[in-house]
Amino acid sequence: MADRLKDKTAIVTGAGSVGPGMGNGKASAVLYAREGARVVLVDLNLDAAKETEKIIRDEGGICMALSADVTKADDCRRVVETCVSEYGGVDILHNNVGVTKAGGPVEQSEEDWDRIMAVNAKSMFLMCKFAIPEMEKGDGGSIVNISSVNSIKSTPAIAVAYASSKAAVNALTREVAVQYAAKNIRCNAVLPGVMRTPMVEAQLQKSYGGDPEEMNRRRSALCPMNKQGEGWDTAYAGLYLASDESKYVTGTTLVVDGGLTGWMPQVEPS
Ligand SMILES: NC(=O)c1ccc[n+]([C@@H]2O[C@H](COP(=O)([O-])OP(=O)(O)OC[C@H]3O[C@@H](n4cnc5c(N)ncnc54)[C@H](O)[C@@H]3O)[C@@H](O)[C@H]2O)c1
Repeated sequence: MADRLKDKTAIVTGAGSVGPGMGNGKASAVLYAREGARVVLVDLNLDAAKETEKIIRDEGGICMALSADVTKADDCRRVVETCVSEYGGVDILHNNVGVTKAGGPVEQSEEDWDRIMAVNAKSMFLMCKFAIPEMEKGDGGSIVNISSVNSIKSTPAIAVAYASSKAAVNALTREVAVQYAAKNIRCNAVLPGVMRTPMVEAQLQKSYGGDPEEMNRRRSALCPMNKQGEGWDTAYAGLYLASDESKYVTGTTLVVDGGLTGWMPQVEPS
């Protein structure tokens, strides 16, 4: 099916990826463009956003890369203003940016907590702050927040700030959904499970003794399907929520985890 987002404009935050391969944000940006949206590709790392821009333009899609730090209000305001001035409004806000670090309250520093909460939760609050008034000027809109199954379940790799920040994302999603339901602005969260993405390759290796193959073997073994998900799995869930096909769906948390959260207890094989 094509043109599921025809004539729509979208902002995707974290539209690059921290390393080679297809992350959740990059896959979403590419898919939204394939389905007809004009996409603003936002990333702290302009080169990463430009990689995604090249993929989309090579396929004939319409997009523009923009450097911004979505933990900063001025940057978020500028992103929204650019989307309005270049593409005429904001129909879809896809809040993808997120970082993680393993550890409980004793192991993690106060700085880790503040940084993870700012990148994962405050960024979504700020992007909503500036995007929602523009959606109100149009026919409404759809906000897709990338949360995590870690917002509702613990994993063997305890990450207290990450899990807390993602629980905050779920609550933010619900509050925005209810407040703006009558204005046709929908807000939903996608909860990916164990996905093999550049973010994981870059940030979680230390939790698995620094060995990427061992990390991937053990992460795959955690999954009922015996394999991790990928960025495209998150992206297709986001596409449904971003499109008008989900016009009566708001405030929901869509789990994309290959059955992981229904498969308890999660015991790692020896
Ligand atoms: N991979 C998994 O197993 C998994 C599981 C559940 C949820 N998630 C969620 O998926 C999302 C990340 O997916 P991804 O694969 O696109 O990650 P990624 O880390 O590959 O890409 C994210 C991009 O965000 C950018 N970024 C980081 N901080 C930023 C900031 N302050 N402002 C603007 N851009 C910033 C990075 O430069 C990077 O290019 C996160 O919200 C994460 O919590 C991932």
